[in-house]
Amino acid sequence: MNARALAGMLVAALGAWAVFSIYHTPAKAAVAVAWESSNQCAQCHPLPFDEWKSSWHAQSWTDVEVRKQNDDFGNSDCIDCHAPQPVFETGIGNRVLPRSTRRIEGVDCIACHQMLDGRMAGTVDNPSVACRPLAQRELVRPEFCAGCHNQHGTIDQWKASKYAQPGPDFQDCIACHMPYRDPADPTKGRNHTMHGGHDIELVRRAVTLEVRSIAGAPQVVVRNVGAGHNFPTDERSRASDIFWRPLDGSDTPQPWRKLYRFRNPYRFEVGQPNTELPAGQALELTIEDDAARGAIEVALFFKLTPYYEDPERPDPERESILVHRVSWKP
Ligand code: HEC
Ligand code: HEC
Ligand code: HEC
Ligand code: HEC
Ligand code: HEC
Repeated sequence: MNARALAGMLVAALGAWAVFSIYHTPAKAAVAVAWESSNQCAQCHPLPFDEWKSSWHAQSWTDVEVRKQNDDFGNSDCIDCHAPQPVFETGIGNRVLPRSTRRIEGVDCIACHQMLDGRMAGTVDNPSVACRPLAQRELVRPEFCAGCHNQHGTIDQWKASKYAQPGPDFQDCIACHMPYRDPADPTKGRNHTMHGGHDIELVRRAVTLEVRSIAGAPQVVVRNVGAGHNFPTDERSRASDIFWRPLDGSDTPQPWRKLYRFRNPYRFEVGQPNTELPAGQALELTIEDDAARGAIEVALFFKLTPYYEDPERPDPERESILVHRVSWKP
């Protein structure tokens, strides 16, 4: 090898090194930030921030229905999950602790993501960015939601369903409640809006309503086909009612008649059973009433708060939200 060739190789090697060092500056570890508010995350994570802002997690401290029931959090037992410290503080699956600052942010970014060492649980390891994310699979397990969502058994109900079994039916909490923003590209992340009972379209996907003839009488069938747990779940204030009425062709329809209620009652409602409908199961009820010998209409309604103004004369069309409606004739 002559001197020129050697010099040429040297130049090439130096060039390669220069290019390499420009693009491969060793990442500097970011200085640990003491996170004080979820608003700090907004500048770098605008998408999850906007979704979360519109979610019920962000409203868990300001929610008027909650405040009505606990005298504006005069009952301090209610603070725990509605303004929580980070889940990782007590460890996943365990009850969260109440926070004493910035309660207005409710169930915030920090409550779900911040780990004991201040790093953010996520799907990537990157010590060089401000929030120092760490890949942490615990975050996606149903037990992660359990510290707040199992007080009425939602996680246990899920575990008893087909959705918890490994195989083609498997779907965890985030599969249904945090769908990918772009199903074709999972790297775009998951939607943080986390819809529940406030989204009637989601409620409609949970159940089907059918009326069939059994020996000439109408039999109502409600099937839980889409919820990964009981219908309705989690909240004692939710109720779903089946009503029916004869269709006699007149201009003013007859009043709705009560047939059945799906609900987990409050503890003080002694003697009332839990009538929620487990995942995959069906309720079948035949209407044994002379008024149901001709054409009838059957409807399933959903209520965010359980009581009707006049329990003797409930007006579901005004006080509830229609889920499904079916007509039947013999
Ligand atoms: C162990 C955690 C935990 C505690 C403690 C807790 N909650 Fe909740 N609360 C939740 C979760 C989770 C939900 C969401 C369930 C749902 O939407 O179905 C919720 C939802 C609610 C709702 C329904 C909100 C709505 O928008 O319709 C009300 C009302 C409520 N809680 C009141 C209370 C009251 C009153 C207390 C204290 C006696 C309390 N909660 C204590 C976890 C908790
Ligand atoms: C100065 C900008 C900045 C701030 C402020 C910031 N982050 Fe990040 N964060 C990033 C960047 C950049 C990444 C992407 C790292 C990567 O993909 O390697 C990231 C990644 C993450 C991840 C992992 C993402 C994944 O794909 O798994 C989570 C979770 C996260 N941040 C949460 C938060 C939370 C919560 C806050 C507020 C407490 C916050 N971040 C504040 C810049 C920031
Ligand atoms: C109720 C819990 C919860 C809250 C509140 C929450 N996150 Fe998440 N976050 C998750 C879960 C679960 C994932 C999914 C991780 C996965 O896909 O593996 C996630 C994913 C992420 C990711 C990864 C990329 C993406 O967009 O999916 C980022 C970044 C992130 N969250 C930031 C935030 C920020 C910022 C906030 C507040 C504005 C926030 N999160 C609030 C639970 C939460
Ligand atoms: C730190 C406590 C906490 C954790 C962890 C948590 N949640 Fe929640 N979640 C709440 C509270 C409190 C509410 C009720 C907010 C309200 O309406 O007042 C709620 C509400 C909801 C709702 C109902 C929205 C509606 O329409 O009423 C859904 C769905 C939900 N959470 C899903 C999840 C899932 C899935 C996870 C796990 C990835 C999770 N949450 C983790 C506390 C938590
Ligand atoms: C197969 C899809 C699916 C899976 C899996 C699933 N859910 Fe749901 N979830 C639904 C549907 C549909 C609804 C609306 C009907 C209802 O309230 O039961 C719902 C409602 C909810 C609500 C709102 C109740 C209310 O009235 O506001 C909460 C909270 C919730 N799910 C939490 C969870 C948690 C926690 C898990 C994991 C253990 C989970 N879900 C798994 C589909 C699913």
